[in-house]
Amino acid sequence: QMGLKTTLLGKKIHYFEEVTSTNNTAKEIAASEEEGTLVIAEVQKGGRGRMGREWVSPHGGIWMSVILKPGIPLRHASRLTLIAGLAVANVIRNMGLDASIKWPNDVRINGKKVCGILTEAKAEVDRVDYVVLGIGINVNMDLKDIPESFRAGSTTLKVELGRHIKRVSFLQDLLFELEQQYINFKIRPFSHILNEWLALSDTIGREVKVTTPSRIIEGKAVGITPDGALVIKKADDTKEEIIAGRCIYARP
Ligand code: BTN
Repeated sequence: QMGLKTTLLGKKIHYFEEVTSTNNTAKEIAASEEEGTLVIAEVQKGGRGRMGREWVSPHGGIWMSVILKPGIPLRHASRLTLIAGLAVANVIRNMGLDASIKWPNDVRINGKKVCGILTEAKAEVDRVDYVVLGIGINVNMDLKDIPESFRAGSTTLKVELGRHIKRVSFLQDLLFELEQQYINFKIRPFSHILNEWLALSDTIGREVKVTTPSRIIEGKAVGITPDGALVIKKADDTKEEIIAGRCIYARP
């Protein structure tokens, strides 16, 4: 009904005017849904970001969650975050904007965040039952639509392009790109996808400060592991791998 170019993603779509969080809704129905089912809403009242943060989700954005059942070990679930970031960055680049990826999951234009990804998985022993891939994209909002306390460091596609974006065709392109990435993820060695991710990431080579719930690590980002952990070389020349955290660039 939406003219999708995909066979798996979006085969079934649950559309809402308003939800608390599409990730919450997706998790509630995930067990009984086939993979590829999409939950999408115009507005989220309790949109969630990573590390317990709030995600502002007014009218004009794309707030969606994709249910996937890849049958992978739990430790590989973060790989799906990387492919989602890659898909979003590719679609935005095809619109002529210079999108890059900031580890682990921010898609940015000119250093400002336009998309965030929240991956949540349920696993039995070490196999995932399902993964909910939550993707939030600031599309047609003006900066004034974002509360002031969240505005710094954020942008929208409309602001960057200087025009309104057709959200349905953007979504068609995004689901197509994400489906291609997901197919590749299943058939190709992950190193290929990592190389593509590295080419679009602007994190490697930078001086960074990464905050995790328990500590702060400072140093130079020197690489990424096959599971998506950031490798940091510290001042004493030792290396550390960080699987999740908030990354700040010392020099923007
Ligand atoms: C982040 O950068 O901290 C992640 C933000 C993820 C936002 C999306 S919007 C759709 C889905 N539902 C949520 O509540 N969060 C994700």
